[in-house]
Amino acid sequence: MTSAPAQPFLPYGQQDLDESDLAAVMEALRSPYLTTGPGVEAFERAVAARVGARFGVAISNGTAALHAMYDALGVGPGDEVVVPAVTFLATANAALYVGARPVFCDVDPTSGLMTPEALAAAMTPRTRLVVPVHLAGHPAHTAALAEVARAGGARLVEDAAHATGAVDQGVAVGACAWSEMASFSFHPVKHITTAEGGMVMTNDEALAARLRLFRSHGMTRDSSLLSRPDEGPWYYEQQALGYNYRLTDVQCALGLSQLARLDAFVARRRALAARYDALLADLPWLRPIAPERPGSRSAYHLYATLVDEGRLGLPKRELARRLHARGVGTQVHYIPIPMQPYYERLGWRAERFPGALAYYRQTLSLPLFTRMGEGDVDRVVGALREVAAEGGA
Ligand SMILES: Cc1ncc(COP(=O)(O)O)c(C=O)c1O
Repeated sequence: MTSAPAQPFLPYGQQDLDESDLAAVMEALRSPYLTTGPGVEAFERAVAARVGARFGVAISNGTAALHAMYDALGVGPGDEVVVPAVTFLATANAALYVGARPVFCDVDPTSGLMTPEALAAAMTPRTRLVVPVHLAGHPAHTAALAEVARAGGARLVEDAAHATGAVDQGVAVGACAWSEMASFSFHPVKHITTAEGGMVMTNDEALAARLRLFRSHGMTRDSSLLSRPDEGPWYYEQQALGYNYRLTDVQCALGLSQLARLDAFVARRRALAARYDALLADLPWLRPIAPERPGSRSAYHLYATLVDEGRLGLPKRELARRLHARGVGTQVHYIPIPMQPYYERLGWRAERFPGALAYYRQTLSLPLFTRMGEGDVDRVVGALREVAAEGGA
């Protein structure tokens, strides 16, 4: 008897590089500039044009992009930065990088998104900045959140790491219609990748200039900005404290090539998500997270679901283990940050965030990436049904 060939493991997310991407990288490697060359601006302009923002500033990763945004607004010691309790660590950590205090805000238990009501409750007179996250690619209600932030005298930037290609109330995420800046991540599991990478979008020229200084040691050669413009052709000037957070020309070449595929990527993710929705509709113990708001379109960074452990008759961790044994990778996005030991030491307790805890207890992200075939979705759904049929056995 011959056994069926083992099927490849399905991770929860994965990049999609084709020959055009590889050719773009090779061309960049052969060019005179591996970094600080014209490829960076070309990528910045293309992303800005795609999302409808005036400026894009490429940065080495999405975490550095958050750091750059918080710095550009002058957030610092004594300031509070409100972030959702359910997000990746970086959204909160970047507040600590600038010496500010991250303050967590509860989320909707069915979407994981920051709500205007929870934001209003989290704000204090020290709140300088509010940072909604478009979790899983579903846009948060940025307009309503911006209203609350403004009423409380705070500014707002978007952590759009999950939302390249998403639409928030008819406007592309990244256009900064209701925010001062928005940051993308180009990590391999994201919509488009530069291996590591990120970009800050803004419509404000002064902020764009500050972001550019920050990503490269606070240093400029722009003769119109120099305090000693006649010093000599070698002259550069440090005008602020910055870092080396540059994105290379090689990475930007990959990004530009990937950007040409963004619409196809988002369409593919949406088609796969729709297939999951249809095939899972009759499972009483599993449902997708809250649907898109009217007028908004998710970029489906993740296919995040909510598991009813009681109805399944198994703890979520056992479901994840059994799926893994069947070659299906899952992940939880995210463990509430106040539950992390580091943040507990800073005095935070997850119990203060019932919406975040309820979301965390239920959520499980199923495999979703553009190279998946319809058959892969069917395989995941088949594995879910098998595990349910096995029950607590
Ligand atoms: C919501 C969110 N913000 C920020 C980041 C940081 O992006 P990067 O990994 O590019 O530093 C991530 C990365 O996964 C993220 O999920």
